[in-house]
Amino acid sequence: MIFEELKNKRAKISVIGLGYVGLPLALEFAKKFSVIGFDISERRVELMKQNIDPSNELESSVFENKDITFTANAEDLKKAHFHIVAVPTPIDEHKNPNLRPLISATKSVGKHLKKGDYVIFESTVYPGCTEEDCLPILEELSGLKLGVDFKIGYSPERINPGDKERTIDKILKIVSGSDTEALDEVAKVYDEIITAGLYKAPTIKVAEAAKVIENTQRDLNISLMNELSIIFDKMDIDTKEVIKAAGTKWNFLKFSPGLVGGHCIGVDPYYLLHKSKQLGYDPQVILSGRRINDGMPAFVAKRLIQMLIKKNKSPQNAKVLVMGVTFKENVSDIRNSKVADLVKELMQYSINVHVTDPYASPNEVAHEYNLTLVDKVSNDYDAVVVAVEHQEYKQLDMTYFKSITKENPILMDLKGMYEYSQNGMLYWRL
Ligand SMILES: NC(=O)c1ccc[n+]([C@@H]2O[C@H](COP(=O)([O-])OP(=O)(O)OC[C@H]3O[C@@H](n4cnc5c(N)ncnc54)[C@H](O)[C@@H]3O)[C@@H](O)[C@H]2O)c1
Repeated sequence: MIFEELKNKRAKISVIGLGYVGLPLALEFAKKFSVIGFDISERRVELMKQNIDPSNELESSVFENKDITFTANAEDLKKAHFHIVAVPTPIDEHKNPNLRPLISATKSVGKHLKKGDYVIFESTVYPGCTEEDCLPILEELSGLKLGVDFKIGYSPERINPGDKERTIDKILKIVSGSDTEALDEVAKVYDEIITAGLYKAPTIKVAEAAKVIENTQRDLNISLMNELSIIFDKMDIDTKEVIKAAGTKWNFLKFSPGLVGGHCIGVDPYYLLHKSKQLGYDPQVILSGRRINDGMPAFVAKRLIQMLIKKNKSPQNAKVLVMGVTFKENVSDIRNSKVADLVKELMQYSINVHVTDPYASPNEVAHEYNLTLVDKVSNDYDAVVVAVEHQEYKQLDMTYFKSITKENPILMDLKGMYEYSQNGMLYWRL
């Protein structure tokens, strides 16, 4: 049985793709098992060999005393018998699933698959992807048969980057397998590292669907708050106060408006949309939520233009500071940042935009968005947009914002962090 083999270190676990998901997972497994961490990026592997997390999430101490070998050589997968795939599953420019990394990782595993091996997928996909898209590749490249020679499973990841409390071991995990034995073995392996408990899903498709709807539900709930915010803005009603008041009812769900970026909430619904459309059903609710959320940068930009004009400031001569460019608070991840969309939108109006962020890497921002981060803010802004709820920004107050702005300034507080102020600042929040 694979669990016993792994436990006695007669077999190894491999983790394929060592990013936000794969690296913490591999290091957690390496407390109990012998692990091979494989990534196609040699640069990232070199950093990990020096106990550096290229995603800036883990301290170097987390790498210490772990039974793990980092490699960029796929041949090393031969040495492992329980393979976990955690590569990115992004969307392309047409918002369709881009399965290239997943297919390529599956090929790497398929080429080195042996009798008795297990392959577990952790990447977020649409229901059916593991069995319909990945399994045939494994069988074809290995010449082996599912059930007879090897088994598969799916265990979606729920890690929350930037969250130092809810670490990987403290998040209840869904597991699934290609048959009962596979489910039991997969559960036994994960049970060694997950203290929060496991949920055994009846099928792989159920586990895949569960993950994709967790994020779809969150996306939709936020989109409703965003739409309400657009409506209440027209009525001059403060949405934050409305949500606070409505939240006194026992079954009102407290979500807040905001920019929905990143590689999960804003991306995963498209995986479900894709599969649904393929099967002849064109989802209405999911898609409209996506449209609302994707339209928020343009809405915020339009409101800023209106306020600038109201304050007799022409956009062409206006100087605006945007604070925060990462996709969420307290992380360095800038992928699919909607703040970048907002900045581009403002630039379209010929506004001179400065962008700052204590977490984002200037090189990455320049490379990804062709934007230059300022390291020193000036003191003559016409407006400040606080876009991300970074810890450092929470402590700021109106005196600070007054000190970096000209007369009649505007403060856009997209996360509703500050209180309304009457001290000569035009304050606006979603
Ligand atoms: N980051 C999150 O918060 C989070 C949470 C839950 C689920 N997920 C899902 O987990 C999966 C991984 O996401 P992530 O954020 O860790 O991605 P990531 O971009 O941080 O890391 C992916 C890693 O995989 C490597 N890689 C890419 N193609 C590869 C290949 N063919 N072979 C080997 N390595 C390869 C990359 O070099 C990178 O190091 C995605 O499906 C994502 O939707 C992510």
